[in-house]
Amino acid sequence: MSSQVWQGQNKRIYLQEVGTRDGLQAEKVFVPTENKIGLVNALSDTGLAKIEVTAFVSPKAIPALRDAEQVLREIKRVPGVVYTALVPNVRGAERAVESRADELNLVMSASESHNLSNLRMTRQQSFSGLVEVVKAVQTTGIAINVSLSCAFGCPMEGDVPQADVLDWCRRYVEELGTTGVTLCDTTGMAYPPQVAELTASFRARWPETELTLHFHNTRGMGLANVLAAIDAGADRFDASFGGIGGCPYAPGASGNVCTEEIAHALALMGYDTQVDLALLLAAAHQLPALIGHDVPSQILKAGRRLDLHPQPADFS
Ligand code: COA
Ligand code: ZN
Repeated sequence: MSSQVWQGQNKRIYLQEVGTRDGLQAEKVFVPTENKIGLVNALSDTGLAKIEVTAFVSPKAIPALRDAEQVLREIKRVPGVVYTALVPNVRGAERAVESRADELNLVMSASESHNLSNLRMTRQQSFSGLVEVVKAVQTTGIAINVSLSCAFGCPMEGDVPQADVLDWCRRYVEELGTTGVTLCDTTGMAYPPQVAELTASFRARWPETELTLHFHNTRGMGLANVLAAIDAGADRFDASFGGIGGCPYAPGASGNVCTEEIAHALALMGYDTQVDLALLLAAAHQLPALIGHDVPSQILKAGRRLDLHPQPADFS
């Protein structure tokens, strides 16, 4: 097959790191604040477009991120990198704005069951909450993204109709005026044709809105889904260094697509991610010692495609 077929033709793909939020929220250990700051600082130098630094949620719900203020205030800010934070309510929005977040990443679920277990509200109550947040911060001019969990299926309800997903998107874009929407595959239920259809429908209806795809690699379909989304017009992806991650309130959740695996694959295919893979791998190398276990990343174990091994002495 000619290499022409695989040319990404230098198309710019924006990689957004969520490991210090989606990743660390799922860990049992509390990573010390200075280490979290060190991780974000290391990630900031890798060329990533956006970093979801932390979450301003209830410290009882997610104790691992109870130091959100300090982390967001004390990181080094690299110009051009957008520092975002997950926010579930007005209280979280106020905390994030005070800590100088560049963007608020609001969250609700496309599935009623997951919304109730994750946020303890109905979807309608959540949407009313998003309206309140937008009102509360509108004078700050801060960017607002809405992440829609379970957009590709719910671990308790099964398929979520695409018409419902698109109707929630319509409400975010047209009623709330959000800058961006993230379609989240919270428990790795997405598959390529479904991803292509939803991405193409979103792009056709709201070409000016920043669209992010957020895949978890729970069933090994993460990279296939990223490629299907790119072909359907997407150019922004959340991913987690080391491949850590998962929602503690979604049964069966596991790690996000792995940033270094996606960056490695996209570079080989001729896409322009602007990510320095060596620096990203160095950041991911810090994780096992900090979280106390191995991480799913395959590139971290195997090295890059052309990181060669010495020839065994007895073969020479
Ligand atoms: N920041 C800090 N504390 C918060 C908070 C926020 N954004 N929102 C609520 N709280 C506190 C309240 O002050 C209250 O504290 P108290 O018990 O000491 O009085 C407690 O949390 C419960 O508040 P309440 O308004 O009754 O919320 P709740 O118990 O219904 O919880 C959420 C709702 C959404 C705030 C909570 O479930 C949450 O933060 N979930 C996190 C979900 C998450 O991050 N999931 C993974 C990522 S998608
Ligand atoms: Zn996630």
